[in-house]
Amino acid sequence: MNLFDDADDDLPLAPGALKLGGFARDIDVALLAAVADIARDAPFRHLVTPGGLRMSVAMTNCGEAGWVSDRTGYRYESCDPESGRPWPAMPQLFRDLAARAAARAGFADFQPQACLVNRYVPGSKLSLHQDRDERNLVEPIVSVSLGLPATFLWGGATRAERPHRLPLVHGDVVVWGGPSRLNFHGIDTLPQGAHPATGALRYNLTFRRVR
Ligand code: SIN
Ligand code: FE2
Repeated sequence: MNLFDDADDDLPLAPGALKLGGFARDIDVALLAAVADIARDAPFRHLVTPGGLRMSVAMTNCGEAGWVSDRTGYRYESCDPESGRPWPAMPQLFRDLAARAAARAGFADFQPQACLVNRYVPGSKLSLHQDRDERNLVEPIVSVSLGLPATFLWGGATRAERPHRLPLVHGDVVVWGGPSRLNFHGIDTLPQGAHPATGALRYNLTFRRVR
């Protein structure tokens, strides 16, 4: 029995944007095991922004392309710059989840090429930004939350629009595409906490079509 049924509803955020409450919860153990496998091959690291700041969120990737940042800019790379090897392959479980979530939000046949894996500790945050380093802006972003709860900042088409604050818990999925594809978004400073599945961590998987 789920005592928080209403949190499992589909919640429209804007045209082309939908929160799917609890959509990934039933495969959480397998998702987290896959994250651990990925991180053994391509360890989490704190990237540096073009401005020289160390990001508080630790990141890695799987798939045929991975998102990286350094002093020269943001981009997608087919190999992990740390090892020189291709990023770990994207597990079928990830592909299936991303495609099912996208379809539910109205985006048929989503085939992600990149999965950015974010790891947050309490105190980490991701400032308001747009996902715009992909050459493909037709396909949606699919974002999966695991572990500690967080506050998603869901903004508009311009940075000036004050973001809505939306709770995201373990197993929630957010999809944004179409007219919302370039909306500003972020994660507010993660509060202290402990989650039965992850301890004092939050993970986020974002699936993207890059090319
Ligand atoms: C992102 O904006 O790429 C990640 C958002 C999140 O961690 O939920
Ligand atoms: Fe993003």
